Amino acid sequence: EKEGYPHFMLKEIFEQPGCIHDCMRGRINIDGNSVVLSAVIDYKEKLLKAKRFIIVACGTSWHAGLIGKHLIESFCRIPVEVEYASEFRYRDPVIDENDVVIAISQSGETADTLAAVELAKSRGAFIYGICNAIGSSIPRATHTGSYIHVGPEIGVASTKAFTGQVTVLTMLALTLAREKRTIGEAQFLKVVHELNGIPEKMKQVLKLNDKIAELSKIFTYAHNFIYLGRGYSYPVALEGALKLKEISYIHAEGYPAAEMKHGPIALVDAEMPVVVIATQNGLYEKVLSNIQEIKARKGRVIALVTEGDTVISKIADYCIELPQTIECLDPLITTVPLQMLAYHVAVCKGMDVDQPRNLAKSVTVE
Ligand code: F6R
Repeated sequence: EKEGYPHFMLKEIFEQPGCIHDCMRGRINIDGNSVVLSAVIDYKEKLLKAKRFIIVACGTSWHAGLIGKHLIESFCRIPVEVEYASEFRYRDPVIDENDVVIAISQSGETADTLAAVELAKSRGAFIYGICNAIGSSIPRATHTGSYIHVGPEIGVASTKAFTGQVTVLTMLALTLAREKRTIGEAQFLKVVHELNGIPEKMKQVLKLNDKIAELSKIFTYAHNFIYLGRGYSYPVALEGALKLKEISYIHAEGYPAAEMKHGPIALVDAEMPVVVIATQNGLYEKVLSNIQEIKARKGRVIALVTEGDTVISKIADYCIELPQTIECLDPLITTVPLQMLAYHVAVCKGMDVDQPRNLAKSVTVE
């Protein structure tokens, strides 16, 4: 059932173009100029009158939530908080019937996320679930929601569920923004059109697999990695670092690139691999200067850049060139090479990629 792939994780990484297509099916029309997430329309009164959204999740799903915050705030102009479910549920949080809680969970069974949902529901909040496993506990506990429809995820390290979650969050933000009239028609069309084209671009990214496998051999020596990104790429940096630590057992930290100078840059020396998401979007110039700061301390920079970038290729030690997309969809492209990097480093180190030590696929105990 691995269909010729050596591990479920690699199979699931490669399934992503098809998964994203399935996730969008029936939600984005064929012409790529309209998107409708039916749960958003069915419950639009609740969602439109919300004073605030709170996203609760754990692990990789929490990283998707950070991207969701950025999407919903910029398209819908609603304040969004992103909480670790385990922290939220034990804090006696301030929450009432004016809040909408979005619970994100691949398995739909994560104990802390489920408890956060129950708590928020008991305080009168409206609960929207974004899950993968059909009929699991979290979708049953929520008022409504949207499945990500990416199929069963077997590898313990979450891959296709993350990109599916980000895709649903994008469609949610777009559908709601249109109802709220907080997005202009031209921008709406542009984002929907680009989103529709993401599966094809992901296929291009997957062609980098051999190159990334080669690159990974260089880094099996490392005991530490730093991942940097800004804006939409900051959660991607966190996610890249989590993937690496959970399957290769290399310590890795993700940071917002500009935070480096407030402490972590002290860690950088000629031994330190620093993965920087440096695609040509909004904060490109800022990220470029962050790379220069790392190079000045002799860090080994692995940069994710937009195809045809001639500036960063001159200063970074290694470049991974990716197809161009718009800023808010960049995570759907930049996450994929980081999944492959983590996978190949772990394989080179001889680790059991699908069953990493100490981890279970669904965390039903707290
Ligand atoms: C990381 C990973 C975990 C899960 C987390 C939440 O690769 O898989 O961090 O994301 O345990 O799980 P779900 O999404 O099932 O609630």
